[in-house]
Amino acid sequence: MATPQEKANGFLEKGKELIERSGDLAFLSTHIEGLREVIRFHENRYYVMNDPLVSDLEFDQLYKALEKVEAAHPELIRADSPTQRVGPGITKQFTTVQHLVPMLSLENSYNAADLMDWDRKARELSGLDQLEYCVEPKFDGASISLIYENDQFTRGATRGDGIAGEEITLNLKQIKSIPLTAPFSKYGIQQIEIRGEVLMNKDNFRKYNEQLAEQNLPPLANPRNAASGSLRIKDASIVGKRNLEAFLYHIAYIHYEGEHQPIRSHGESLELLWEMGFRSPVKEKKVLKGIDAVIAFCQSFEEQRDELPYEIDGLVIKVNEMLLQDKLGMTTHHPRWAIAFKFKARQSTSKLMQVEFQVGRTGSITPVAKIQPVHIGGVMVSSISLHNQEFIREKNIMIGDTVLVERAGDVIPYIVKSFPELRTGNESPVTFPVVCPVCQTALIKPEEEAVWRCPNENCDAQVVERMIHFTSKDAMDIRGLGDANIRKFHELGWLKDIPSIYHLPFDQLRTMDGFGAKSVANLSEAIEKSKTQPLYRLINALGIRYVGETTAKTLAQAVSHLLDLSKMDKESLQQIEDVGVKVADSLHQYFSNPQNVEMLQRLEAAGLQLQSIKQEPIDGSLSGKTFLFTGTLTQLKRAQAEGMVESQGGKILSGVSSKLDYLIVGEDAGSKLEKAKKIASIQILDENAFIALMGTKE
Ligand code: IVH
Repeated sequence: MATPQEKANGFLEKGKELIERSGDLAFLSTHIEGLREVIRFHENRYYVMNDPLVSDLEFDQLYKALEKVEAAHPELIRADSPTQRVGPGITKQFTTVQHLVPMLSLENSYNAADLMDWDRKARELSGLDQLEYCVEPKFDGASISLIYENDQFTRGATRGDGIAGEEITLNLKQIKSIPLTAPFSKYGIQQIEIRGEVLMNKDNFRKYNEQLAEQNLPPLANPRNAASGSLRIKDASIVGKRNLEAFLYHIAYIHYEGEHQPIRSHGESLELLWEMGFRSPVKEKKVLKGIDAVIAFCQSFEEQRDELPYEIDGLVIKVNEMLLQDKLGMTTHHPRWAIAFKFKARQSTSKLMQVEFQVGRTGSITPVAKIQPVHIGGVMVSSISLHNQEFIREKNIMIGDTVLVERAGDVIPYIVKSFPELRTGNESPVTFPVVCPVCQTALIKPEEEAVWRCPNENCDAQVVERMIHFTSKDAMDIRGLGDANIRKFHELGWLKDIPSIYHLPFDQLRTMDGFGAKSVANLSEAIEKSKTQPLYRLINALGIRYVGETTAKTLAQAVSHLLDLSKMDKESLQQIEDVGVKVADSLHQYFSNPQNVEMLQRLEAAGLQLQSIKQEPIDGSLSGKTFLFTGTLTQLKRAQAEGMVESQGGKILSGVSSKLDYLIVGEDAGSKLEKAKKIASIQILDENAFIALMGTKE
């Protein structure tokens, strides 16, 4: 038997060979299953073990090779191929399906006494003096059930009422930590139902809420809602973009065929799931003897809950031995062999004292509740966003109300609800201002939006907020220039706009209270360093409406210099992948404003990177050739076809111009085809001719 290291080395070597020979379609087609195994291995390292062995680029090369060979040989496509997660995945209506075994709930405990009580009963029922327990996190997400038959993932469902749930297989296939195939047959397992939890980790949750905010949509309250909401989306490709994760922690049903070894303990079942490629809590779990050790572990774990990258709301204590679990059995509601230890709720009530209105970087006016300060989970909370008028109306919030406040981990505190039944008659409604609280310009409310806006782009508040965004961690990441300093330097007249960040008067700064030589040197270094940030970070940093990190990345790939965008009309902007009408309008508005163009020129003069540095081009038979696809392809997916071009060193352009060599025309092609016909140097090919061309280039 190969050791894990030998196995990993084997996959690495195989991967290298496959990448080297990725131009050789015949070779790939005879090694297609091996290629899939290499990809599955790396997916597992990345999404399950959180410990990738190859770079994103190498992984992409393998994945594109698989797409290419499957495009050329559709007869070789298998449902469990890594490419089959994505694909046409619209569910019209989720159907209800019965679980093989009811999904029970758990009994809750809140303190040591509850746990001791539970342990005493379990010992009495089992007739033992001391029990062995397996303790693991209680994941705070959406529960799911997965069925594998003959090693294939065949059905996934939500918990529903515990007896039957909604069938969401297509959506669950989008979650990369859920394997499409798993070698259960190795253990004689023909059918298995596994339980687990789908989560959105804190980092992705924060980014997701930022995206919502960019679109003026109210943020989601917590990662649990984000996970369960995402699982109910009808279009699976959107689910794929949510970066969900799945932990699997319970085997609910198992059907063996032939010889097999029974699973002896819960810990062993977690090991089995891990070996089969699932993210089970093998590393997080702890096997302990006796309830005293469990209690001590629960207490110390609660102190570290915020250090985890995802939310947990407690721990689950399970009797480890399977035979004992069977002996203890279950009530109609929960098993007697398991109990949840719930951490302290991070909620508190407080009084809403007043509502202030803040001006955001795009001029949006956000009501902010000032509450009587309360301690929640070790943090003092006194200010909470109320998002918009609609939110205040929905939650029925008045000034003077008692409100329930929650703060989960890194999640921004939010108001869960108000208590209208506690009103005394002294409360007053929240009234919205009609002019900007900072620059007094009359506010406007575009019809399709939920928020009021200050239309004055030079409003001091907007200028400051834009600089705060510009310097933030996901943008230019200028450490040492936090909110407070930006506000201070703005008041001093040093920071008038974004470019002035690169001309701070360090000599004067050194003489100021609280700024030693060291902190000034650090700040100066951070500012210098930001000049070399890649273009997509700069684009994200500008805070253009509807342009977040993802769009910024596509834009940076689509242009060779940022100011190219100022030369494009709305139509050509829309031809950039992933740029729809809304984003194109916003970009056009931004880049046709001479003030913005001038600002970008000043940034370039200050030494910032406005050129796009693209990934090293692949040297292949299409090197130097440019392609553009238009209309609907019927045999290939657009991404696949583009991948084929790129893997041969060709480049995909975003619009028709004299720089274009090939326009590949699918069904219902429109204006791009008309435009290309007028440029003699462009070769116009249909999909079949394109496939033939790729064939000759292999
Ligand atoms: S075991 C029959 N283990 O908590 C045993 N449940 O409040 C079934 N949950 O419905 C559950 N993490 O959705 C188990 N490590 C874990 C869990 C866990 C989260 C959820 C699960 C359950 C709910 C009960």
